[in-house]
Amino acid sequence: MILVTGGTGLIGAHLLFELAHKGQQVTALRRAGSSDHVVRKVFRYYADNGESLLKNITWREGNITDKVSLQAAFDGITAVYHCAAVVSFDPRDEAHLIETNVQSTRNIVSLCLENGVQKLCHLSSVAALGRDRNDHQVHFTEAAPLESDAQASAYARSKALSEQEVWAAMDQGLNAIIVNPTIVIGPGDWNKSSAKLISTIWKGLKFYTEGSNSFVDARDVAAVMARLMERGTFGERFIVTAENRPFRDVFNLIADQLGVAQPSIKTKPWMGELAWRANAFYSKLTGKPPVITRDAVAAGHKHYTFSNEKIRKHLEYEFIPLQKSVEDACRIFLKEH
Ligand SMILES: NC(=O)c1ccc[n+]([C@@H]2O[C@H](COP(=O)([O-])OP(=O)(O)OC[C@H]3O[C@@H](n4cnc5c(N)ncnc54)[C@H](OP(=O)(O)O)[C@@H]3O)[C@@H](O)[C@H]2O)c1
Repeated sequence: MILVTGGTGLIGAHLLFELAHKGQQVTALRRAGSSDHVVRKVFRYYADNGESLLKNITWREGNITDKVSLQAAFDGITAVYHCAAVVSFDPRDEAHLIETNVQSTRNIVSLCLENGVQKLCHLSSVAALGRDRNDHQVHFTEAAPLESDAQASAYARSKALSEQEVWAAMDQGLNAIIVNPTIVIGPGDWNKSSAKLISTIWKGLKFYTEGSNSFVDARDVAAVMARLMERGTFGERFIVTAENRPFRDVFNLIADQLGVAQPSIKTKPWMGELAWRANAFYSKLTGKPPVITRDAVAAGHKHYTFSNEKIRKHLEYEFIPLQKSVEDACRIFLKEH
């Protein structure tokens, strides 16, 4: 029996679909009051029999930060996918991010050990990979150390500390795999996580930065997680990414698919520095979440590339091209708007 946490989120919903489509029965964890609208739309968009595939999912209520609330969900479980986490770059979420993401992972790994779960797939992020903040050009492989810089974003630190919990549990005998996806493209809640990129461009984003990063389809992240668990490759981490691209290329691809103007104003690093400070001040005054953050400005000007060689060779896996990921996600977005 399989348990998935974070099944109501962008990646979790794609994972539930991947597993249900393979005919597997899945127990999925959700908080009291959390919506399953992303799961329903993902199942509907990807399969004609999506509605009937939903019957493969049994929902259990629980909060990942409250170990006691999770105990019942572990009954009879032999494999766990831990996808739940808070994804935020709002500096005001710092304590909440660290507390939720680290404590939840601690709860999950200890419940896996206590209940004799045979295998865990932990959804980490490339944000957990350590980097020198003064380096403007970095190529990452799985050999990167965990992020330990106090100047890193709270999200990055929370993902690194969460990963550390999993490595520690492996030392205690847990069979675990860690996946580190880059920026995920796919249909989710358009106001949350990386799905927000599409709604931001739809609303008329005017600015772009010169930096670059790496992108991957949510369907690929789900497929890779399921295949790694089938293979049983434990004690390792895998970067999961399709293509390294300049932000400008990706913004333009999305704008073209949505039929809106491409962001045309190039921001210089000093402009970003001014903008995040002004925005932080405005956010403090109004209580609204900041639109531009210090971390986003810093990342927007870096040239980060990520290797997918290890995962491609290990699974003989071909990733969906970024062009197709963007086309499919934007088609779904437009259907809803
Ligand atoms: N999206 C990306 O680009 C990306 C890239 C690399 C790694 N990741 C990682 O992938 C994972 C999922 O991200 P996502 O993009 O799918 O984010 P998302 O759409 O925001 O989903 C987050 C999920 O976590 C759940 N969650 C949050 N706090 C919870 C709590 N206290 N108890 C139970 N469930 C809770 C949410 O449940 P509710 O529905 O109740 O809110 C939701 O199901 C995260 O670990 C993230 O770090 C994401």
